[in-house]
Amino acid sequence: MADKVVFLDRMLSLGLARVSEAAAMASANLIGRGDEKAADQAAVNAMRDQLNLLDIQGTVVIGEGERDEAPMLFIGEEVGTGDGPAVDIALDPLEGTTLTAKDMPNALTVIAMAPRGTLLHAPDVYMDKLAIGPGYPKDVVSLDMSPADRVKALAKARGCNTSDITVCVLERPRHEGMIEGIRSTGAAIRLITDGDVAAVIHCAEAEITGIDMYMGSGGAPEGVLAASALKCMGGQIWGQLTFRNDDERGRAAKAGITDLDRIYNRDEMVTADVIFAATGVTDGSVVSGIKREPGFLTTETLLMRSKTGSVRRMIYRNPVGRR
Ligand code: FBP
Repeated sequence: MADKVVFLDRMLSLGLARVSEAAAMASANLIGRGDEKAADQAAVNAMRDQLNLLDIQGTVVIGEGERDEAPMLFIGEEVGTGDGPAVDIALDPLEGTTLTAKDMPNALTVIAMAPRGTLLHAPDVYMDKLAIGPGYPKDVVSLDMSPADRVKALAKARGCNTSDITVCVLERPRHEGMIEGIRSTGAAIRLITDGDVAAVIHCAEAEITGIDMYMGSGGAPEGVLAASALKCMGGQIWGQLTFRNDDERGRAAKAGITDLDRIYNRDEMVTADVIFAATGVTDGSVVSGIKREPGFLTTETLLMRSKTGSVRRMIYRNPVGRR
């Protein structure tokens, strides 16, 4: 008898795109309105409604926060109709709430789905991240190297000068030393104000985006989402959780993490096949943002499956208010 299919990734992928599209469309009216919370809430509500239509036994493992902090899409929330495969879900209904509120580039809605028990339950703490696109030898760069050495190693592997490398970094005071180290090599830095899932995805399409490497500390949940994207597109990512206090260490313990110093690579954060969808909210170099015209909203969604390495860009023109 054939093996029982436990993860209907091909069938579920279109449903996942709908979930992502719905969250983006719900936040459309809040782009550039200066209200991060309202934009996020609209995306959360729509994402949850759509997820609950899918034939899955879903558990949110990366979500809006702990149960007592987030009323919806909290970590551990069961979603879906309860029929179909048991899956883990990692989501960020609005990745770049400030980008959305200020109408700045690269705000996305993001969701990944994988068989139950295969996504790292990353607590809501920071993660030191390092990512590169496909085509490089395994472990050509590492978190143990200094920022300057990472640039040198990547340039050597690519057969170019360090001045030909562009690194993307979140502009934060905590990254000042890292930025100095990168600049000492002559490499260029693209500083971003927010949105490191999009930043990591940029590395997978370096010829189009001009970004060769991403490094720095950002949200750990976003690290798992970024690892899911790279598992589909190719590329390497490493992440190490960092803790500022006992409360954060407690969050890790609650998530079942015992080795607090561990460095996770892509396939340790996402241990089986995954499907990933991201819809543009504001314009970006990965996908376009939502376009409005009278009676219609148009979205662009990146929909990917790691099993096949398929990367689809789907344009959806949705008639607004039609029944
Ligand atoms: P939000 O959408 O939740 O605001 O997150 C945006 C983001 O820039 C992430 O992409 C990134 O991982 C994290 O915030 C960085 O955190 P911080 O702003 O605390 O440096």
